[in-house]
Amino acid sequence: MATESTVTKNIESILQENRLFPPADGFINQARLNKGSLDQLRQSAQQDHESFWASLAREELTWQKEFTQTLDSRNAPHFRWFYDGALNVSYNCLDRHLGKLGNKTAIVFEGEQGDTRRLTYAEVQREVCKFANGLKSIGIKNGDRVVIYMPMVPEAVIAMLACARIGAIHSVVFGGFSAESLKDRIEDAGAVCVITADGGHRGGKIVELKAATDKALAHGCATIKNVIVLRRTGHDIKFDRGRDTWWHDLVENQGPDCQPEWVDSEHPLFLLYTSGSTGKPKGIQHSTAGYLLNSVVTMKWVFDIKDNDIFWCTADVGWITGHSYVAYGPLAVGATMLMYEGAPVVPDPGRFWKICQDHKVTIFYTAPTAIRALMKQGDDYPRRYDLTKLRLLGTVGEPINPEAWMWYHTVIGKEKCPIVDTWWQTETGAHMISPIPGAMPTKPGSCTLPLPGIDAAIVDEKGNEITTPNQGGYLVIRKPWPSMLRTIWGDDQRYKDTYWSKFKGKYYLAGDSARRDEDGYFWIMGRIDDVLNVSGHRLGTMEIESALVAHPKVAEAAVVGKPDEIKGEGIFAFVVLRGARPEGGIDETLTKELRAWVSEQIGPIARPDEIRYADNLPKTRSGKIMRRLLRTIATGEAITQDTSTLENEAILQQLQGKA
Ligand code: PRX
Repeated sequence: MATESTVTKNIESILQENRLFPPADGFINQARLNKGSLDQLRQSAQQDHESFWASLAREELTWQKEFTQTLDSRNAPHFRWFYDGALNVSYNCLDRHLGKLGNKTAIVFEGEQGDTRRLTYAEVQREVCKFANGLKSIGIKNGDRVVIYMPMVPEAVIAMLACARIGAIHSVVFGGFSAESLKDRIEDAGAVCVITADGGHRGGKIVELKAATDKALAHGCATIKNVIVLRRTGHDIKFDRGRDTWWHDLVENQGPDCQPEWVDSEHPLFLLYTSGSTGKPKGIQHSTAGYLLNSVVTMKWVFDIKDNDIFWCTADVGWITGHSYVAYGPLAVGATMLMYEGAPVVPDPGRFWKICQDHKVTIFYTAPTAIRALMKQGDDYPRRYDLTKLRLLGTVGEPINPEAWMWYHTVIGKEKCPIVDTWWQTETGAHMISPIPGAMPTKPGSCTLPLPGIDAAIVDEKGNEITTPNQGGYLVIRKPWPSMLRTIWGDDQRYKDTYWSKFKGKYYLAGDSARRDEDGYFWIMGRIDDVLNVSGHRLGTMEIESALVAHPKVAEAAVVGKPDEIKGEGIFAFVVLRGARPEGGIDETLTKELRAWVSEQIGPIARPDEIRYADNLPKTRSGKIMRRLLRTIATGEAITQDTSTLENEAILQQLQGKA
């Protein structure tokens, strides 16, 4: 945990950005919310927080049994929303639209190799029912955990909705994670089934999903009884007849009707594992009704979604963004959403823009890391394509630097599309702080203001609100909101410790530092703990360090982030070997080997960019690694920290690569 001085120190490095971009008249005139209606929403949320959310829940969700109770705080920090109601998420995403929108396209899909598919709401509903019946036929029932380890194809969403239909709790594991990470997540969740594919297409290669699943199951995962395999690539894979079933065989004789399992509002819809600064990944547990409600309202407020929009969120379904804005949000509001399987640079860095053109995308939502990477390729690629259908742009995952924001605004948005910079987290379930595009001006790099009904604030170490403009502090949420996480699967104490202990149960601690400017706009400054944000992915240092230490030659490791123009943060590892330190601190063969090792253990995303060898790591007398010092060293800045408490001051030269 950072001290107050770290938080304060961060502020000084933040660029002051005063440009203001009001929405274009063309956008304002058609927007769902304008300044007046937004003010009204804010007012009604402020007047009565609970009634505000209760009336939205009644308007926006379809209930099998209406709720009579809104918020239950008796067991705080365990909050229950709408808890005596019953509903089904797949019914809300599909069945309720069929009368009017049955023939409307729900999913437009494009594979990396250029293959395309379109599925109507009626078709998705039918596929979901058949697959749900298939799941039931192999004994999967309400409350069972099902791991989904899939490429970005429509069946990934169908699998999620089928789980929701029967009350099974899904846990989607990002297809870029290794067998080892998959195994950890399966075991923590106690999952009974894995839904995967033979492989997926990404970066011109096949991602070996089935092979990784086999590897994960070979040494553990005792709870898994079934593996369902979608045929996507058609390449040869190993097949265990006793355990594995082809997706197409499972659904072949299933009927197209499947009665939704009506579940309580608080029934867990899914678990999603996310890295913490220490310890193993946390299985963030989300609810049914509250989660869905915030996905729905943010689709309307933030994305201004309309009937004829083509909505494209580029996130993988393995991340929360892919849950809320690929799967659940767009379908729950009856929108047409686009899914793309592959990498943004195949066959060239114009791919995203070509997809926007070919499918007439109107709303485009991606991560700053993608924007920076594509910006680096120059303006020629986007200029080759017709981007005139775009009307709204969005970003998520990390702070966007003003330079990238301006490029997005001018080159992609042609200065007519508002940009919604949405701040939120796996834990929050949906957008929390974000512009309402037709109702307020934006500033490059600021996520602007909390949404109606979201009570975000910046507080000091003691929990007092910071009212001085531009002074950094802890970002907290002061009132419960419907889509908040409910607990950490299997580790409720960690839930309380991580999010609620710092301010004694009063506020939800987001773990980010932030400041507000003179207009009250929020500027996120980064994590207050040590989690790395690499290409928009949140990686725990602990996982990477453990992977390094698992290598026979490594004794100890500490990993810190180093600012990286493209990836946001690069990974810098300090390593202590079991044997002697290499001559002059250089051993290229070993460095290569260790990078490949981490890639194998966790996934390519976690591969260290740089590795430096030292005889030992800088630690305080109590044995804690001095991470702030390591960060300073990694960035090559002058050391300003007090190093007199170091056990071995001589190693500083080694850590700096000078000896
Ligand atoms: O540090 C914030 C950063 O990403 C963290 C949440 O990461 P994750 O749970 O993986 O979810 C990412 C997608 C919602 C936050 O604590 N973050 C997310 N959005 C922004 C952001 N930082 C600055 N600006 C944002 N718009």
